Amino acid sequence: MDRLIRDIPKAELHIHIEGSLEPELMFALAERNGISLPYRSVAEIRQAYQFENLQSFLDLYYAGANVLQTEQDFYDLTWAYLQRAAEDRVHHTEIFFDPQSHTDRGIAFETAYSGIQQALQDGKTRLGISSYLILCFLRHLSAESAMATLEQALPYRDQIPAVGLDSSELGHPPAKFKAVFDRARAEGFRTVAHAGEEAAEYIWEAIELLQVSRIDHGVRCIDDPRLVEYLIEHQIPLTVCPLSNTKLRVFDTMEQHNIKQLLDMGLCVTVNSDDPSYFGGYVVDNFRAIQTALHLDEQDIYQLAKNSFQATFLEQEEKQALLDQLERFVSKAG
Ligand code: ADE
Ligand code: ZN
Repeated sequence: MDRLIRDIPKAELHIHIEGSLEPELMFALAERNGISLPYRSVAEIRQAYQFENLQSFLDLYYAGANVLQTEQDFYDLTWAYLQRAAEDRVHHTEIFFDPQSHTDRGIAFETAYSGIQQALQDGKTRLGISSYLILCFLRHLSAESAMATLEQALPYRDQIPAVGLDSSELGHPPAKFKAVFDRARAEGFRTVAHAGEEAAEYIWEAIELLQVSRIDHGVRCIDDPRLVEYLIEHQIPLTVCPLSNTKLRVFDTMEQHNIKQLLDMGLCVTVNSDDPSYFGGYVVDNFRAIQTALHLDEQDIYQLAKNSFQATFLEQEEKQALLDQLERFVSKAG
């Protein structure tokens, strides 16, 4: 089972690149850029990663991102993630980045974008991982700031197929960003949004007002039977992040996580790492954690991998090629 989980071809669809900043790299970049950190060692950073809720995590996550200054920093960050993803047999990844957490502290949009993009290109040629970049708006900032960020992204529209919404959920409903998302769709972007990490009602809003193709997290949908039915009928994927959900106390224990229940009900759920450096694991670690706690069988693992490809923004032909590759893997393994 352990081997199957590692080797099965998979896609990752919910990973914040800033959340893959490992303490070792944080330290190295702080030194390189002459930035002082409130920690004396890598161990001290890891020790600080005890979260009570989403906000207590976000405070450290934004503070950590301050060490990212140059294009090379963004390249190194992204390259480190891609190497790790290759070990986890991630064949395709759709990566979030938060431009506002950089532009707000004087780092140009292009600096972050170019460093990440260059690493993604190298990921394709050197590691065989295909990837898309998804621009996330920070929902605790204004709609005007989001609109200005969207405008900065327009020249790169071909390399950024979708926009999303992240950061502090409560008090910042999808409705706040309706005009931004209307404009994004008019410009040809697809849309996703974090919703239902803390509140089920924001999932409906994300679907109805932002017309999202996927819901990031979405696990609180279980509180609304009509919503569950809708998600099943329309096969709207949920990008679920089990280790994140337990670290941020969405579920008290992994045994209480509802991903298996949602999978059995026929929802298109996928497994992802969210912020792997902060939540204690990459995508394979997330698969292993739920397999152990929820007693997933091989068919469950196969279905989760299949969902991950189904839920991508790839063109149908590329998607089918990955699904075929998965089929070949499964028939060989079986
Ligand atoms: N930004 C990074 N990780 C996030 C999460 N899990 N929820 C909301 N915003 C985020
Ligand atoms: Zn997230």
